[in-house]
Amino acid sequence: MTAPTTSADFDRAYRSPITFWGDIRIPEELQTLVRQGAPRSALELGCGVGRFSRYVARQGLRVTGVDFSSVAIAKARAGAAKDDVRPDFLEGDVTHLEALSGPYDIAFDVGCFHCFDAQGQRAYVSEVSRLLKPGGTLLVWALDSSPADVPLSPAALKDVFAPGFELADARKSRRRLAASHWYWMVRASR
Ligand SMILES: C[S@@+](CC[C@H](N)C(=O)[O-])C[C@H]1O[C@@H](n2cnc3c(N)ncnc32)[C@H](O)[C@@H]1O
Repeated sequence: MTAPTTSADFDRAYRSPITFWGDIRIPEELQTLVRQGAPRSALELGCGVGRFSRYVARQGLRVTGVDFSSVAIAKARAGAAKDDVRPDFLEGDVTHLEALSGPYDIAFDVGCFHCFDAQGQRAYVSEVSRLLKPGGTLLVWALDSSPADVPLSPAALKDVFAPGFELADARKSRRRLAASHWYWMVRASR
């Protein structure tokens, strides 16, 4: 199976009732991120149907979830319609987030960053740098192998995110049984 990369690919995948990445458990890493330092606002990059954004909103944060799949965003909005507190779901490309001004206290991404080629990675880093407050943490879960054939490893991410971010930690993961890492990036103080 070819991994989806475009919004049309993801729209097709989200029209199906289940997706192969649809792990509904809330990752411990995300739970830890939300508990540390009393953050009040969060940005989710590539939120899909919004499960993780909704979890973070339930913890009392103001949340914006962004995804370029209109089908995913429609499902995210429908899923959250009856929640007492709802994330703000935005249909948009995370490499062009002009509609948002931030700053957010934290940001997270479970499975979006590894979709990008080198140019996409640079645009993503530039947007998250602009939107995350100095000292804020970006948590990324990424596969070790990218559909775009771009190297993904602690060393590669350290380079791509410098100098705006410091790689504070990287831990091997077998989430979804795939060789992957959790990365903690801290936005440099200006
Ligand atoms: C593997 S899915 C993960 C979705 C969700 N985080 C989860 O774990 O259920 C990757 C998501 O990134 C989104 N995505 C990929 N490239 C994107 C881009 N350039 N802008 C916005 N969303 C993007 C896809 O539409 C998809 O929803």
